[in-house]
Amino acid sequence: MLGITQLQLAAMVIYFLQLFMRNTMQLMYAKNWFNIQFQDCLPISSKQLADGKFYELFYIEFFKRYQRYDDLDAKWRDSKRNLANYIINIIGSRNLSLLSIGCGIGYVEKHIHDTIGSQLLFDIHEIAAPALRWIKNEIDHKNIYVGEIDVLEDKCYDLIYLSAVDSAINDQDLIDLMRKLSDKLNDGGQLIIFSAAFSNELSQMQRIILQLKESIKFFLEHLNLYHRGQFWGWIRNREEYWKLLIKAGFKKPNISDGFVPNGQEYWIAGQKVTKSY
Ligand SMILES: C[S@@+](CC[C@H](N)C(=O)[O-])C[C@H]1O[C@@H](n2cnc3c(N)ncnc32)[C@H](O)[C@@H]1O
Repeated sequence: MLGITQLQLAAMVIYFLQLFMRNTMQLMYAKNWFNIQFQDCLPISSKQLADGKFYELFYIEFFKRYQRYDDLDAKWRDSKRNLANYIINIIGSRNLSLLSIGCGIGYVEKHIHDTIGSQLLFDIHEIAAPALRWIKNEIDHKNIYVGEIDVLEDKCYDLIYLSAVDSAINDQDLIDLMRKLSDKLNDGGQLIIFSAAFSNELSQMQRIILQLKESIKFFLEHLNLYHRGQFWGWIRNREEYWKLLIKAGFKKPNISDGFVPNGQEYWIAGQKVTKSY
């Protein structure tokens, strides 16, 4: 039986029990992104989360392969434009100020900027500088912030959004980030998280099956028979998102959620309400 020792078997059982007892959130692993196979060009780890350094190295590879937004997969572009249109609709004809956190290559931001951005205060932020190669030709450099969240100036916004970013951040860091961003909201302003890694609540049986699969993969990896890929982050369900926003200081009546029409993204928004009307 593959030369499995009792010790290895015990390690798998302990791993499973740990997942089971802690009711651990679903973890995500990735082997490629934008058709770039990580193992061909990047140091990957199934234990260490893809951090800013990983994204920097990734984006350097990305720009070796792609020259313009139109080179990217049409379905991906459609879904990001759909999201951008949703944000544009939220703004409507209001003169709102806007901040995007973790904009990546800035495709959503380019669409917003091309459509209404020049009339608004629209700042963008990203932790990995190389990601901004294209978008910095579209958006004025004074509206671009690079690095940890503390690089943001002492400015407030009506709308702050994160698209497909939260999954790369653990619960505590996400709560801290949302608290800091909440301080940057004008009264009545909204923080919106657009999730790219949403899962429905799992039944106990689904959870056990999933945790069993994870334990087997962990075990096979331990035997060098499988690689889970790069540790990519966390998949969250509705209840988990609500808890996080409440821990970040948003009050239940000021939280709303839903799905982006025609898209797949779950969104959850917290509104800052300091004045009583
Ligand atoms: C999946 S991409 C999403 C990019 C873009 N927002 C979009 O919707 O296409 C995730 C981005 O989040 C950035 N990121 C990762 N960790 C972050 C953090 N702690 N704070 C802010 N951005 C982060 C990464 O550099 C990456 O560009």
